[in-house]
Amino acid sequence: MTAISLENIVKRYTSGVEAVRGVSFCIEPGEFLTIVGPSGCGKSTLLRMIAGLEDISEGTLKFDGQVMNNIGAKDRDVGMVFQNYALYPHLTVAENIAFPLTMRRDIPKNTVEARVKEVANMLELGSLMHRKPKELSGGQRQRVALGRAISRRPRVFLFDEPLSNLDAKLRSQMRLEITRLQKNVGSTGIYVTHDQTEAMTIGNRIAVLRDGKLQQIGTPREIYGSPANEFTAGFIGNPSMNFIRGFIEDSTEGLLFCEQNGIIIPLNALQYSFKKSLVAGAKATLGIRPEHLTYITVQGVPIWGEIIATEFLGHETLLYFRASPKSSVICCRTEQSYLPQIGKTVNFSIRPDALYFFDENGERM
Ligand SMILES: Nc1ncnc2c1ncn2[C@@H]1O[C@H](COP(=O)(O)OP(=O)(O)OP(=O)(O)O)[C@@H](O)[C@H]1O
Ligand SMILES: [Mg+2]
Repeated sequence: MTAISLENIVKRYTSGVEAVRGVSFCIEPGEFLTIVGPSGCGKSTLLRMIAGLEDISEGTLKFDGQVMNNIGAKDRDVGMVFQNYALYPHLTVAENIAFPLTMRRDIPKNTVEARVKEVANMLELGSLMHRKPKELSGGQRQRVALGRAISRRPRVFLFDEPLSNLDAKLRSQMRLEITRLQKNVGSTGIYVTHDQTEAMTIGNRIAVLRDGKLQQIGTPREIYGSPANEFTAGFIGNPSMNFIRGFIEDSTEGLLFCEQNGIIIPLNALQYSFKKSLVAGAKATLGIRPEHLTYITVQGVPIWGEIIATEFLGHETLLYFRASPKSSVICCRTEQSYLPQIGKTVNFSIRPDALYFFDENGERM
């Protein structure tokens, strides 16, 4: 099992684009890390540098303490599944999966056959073994590409959005398979995605990337429960955290959070260990996750809102409301299947221990 360390990694393309801007983190041997972030934030670039397909402009990449910067891709023992995977068009599914093994020449033929069979079963490709790539659907091709990367059992697995062409059901099945597979094989893995559900479910830890910079790294629980900044808070979680922009005001009841012409929340009603920056006059953004708002109950901090939309999703209902005509729209997630009428004013309450405050720069207060 291989430990990977990145120290101040920078990628500057010749076009002048700085795609990765000083990223540092360590991955434990056998760990599975997901890198998540919006399109264009540098995820593929970072992965390609780890694979050796892209030069590192600055910084140091190490595998087990050994500097890899100048080691060629083929000598890094890395299995990679690309966003735009390419299969060998003239080879069958079975030959594509076997390819990295047959290339090595030192693996006995029956081992190759057994390995290919095992991988094909795992990926449900058994009935397609004699087909050529052009005779497969996009999802089937993607599974063959996965199979080809794992058949060799490399020291490091790198996945670049390998499930993007699959339908929702197959994607959730493959999520489980990939997690199981990585555990069984024991290789250290990095999985790149812009899908927060994949990030939450696949890895041991998540690294959140934005504009080529690392925002936070931690377990799914840490990232979800204590996001370092507004970006991470908004990126992880579906539906997204509600953000209400406002300011702190002094009153006879103590400090208040006030939205301009909207929500007012007395801070002393909250169970929150505030940093010193939350003082009268400060601008602040309040963050509330949709599941921390309840509707109908009277416990917690109350807010009144006019229902502007409802979405019935079967296992839950999303209620969108506004505290005043100029307020932000807030989403409340409830298990109740009763839908209040649009336009009706109802009482919501906020769980007093589950609020987040962010300053003007988006940092936690
Ligand atoms: N070969 C290249 N030359 C110049 N700029 C590039 C090159 N490849 C990528 N970029 C730029 O670098 C930035 C990061 O690209 P990258 O492909 O790493 O993003 P990503 O996070 O993988 O996005 P996506 O989720 O869309 O795949 C983008 O602004 C992109 O336009
Ligand atoms: Mg990409």
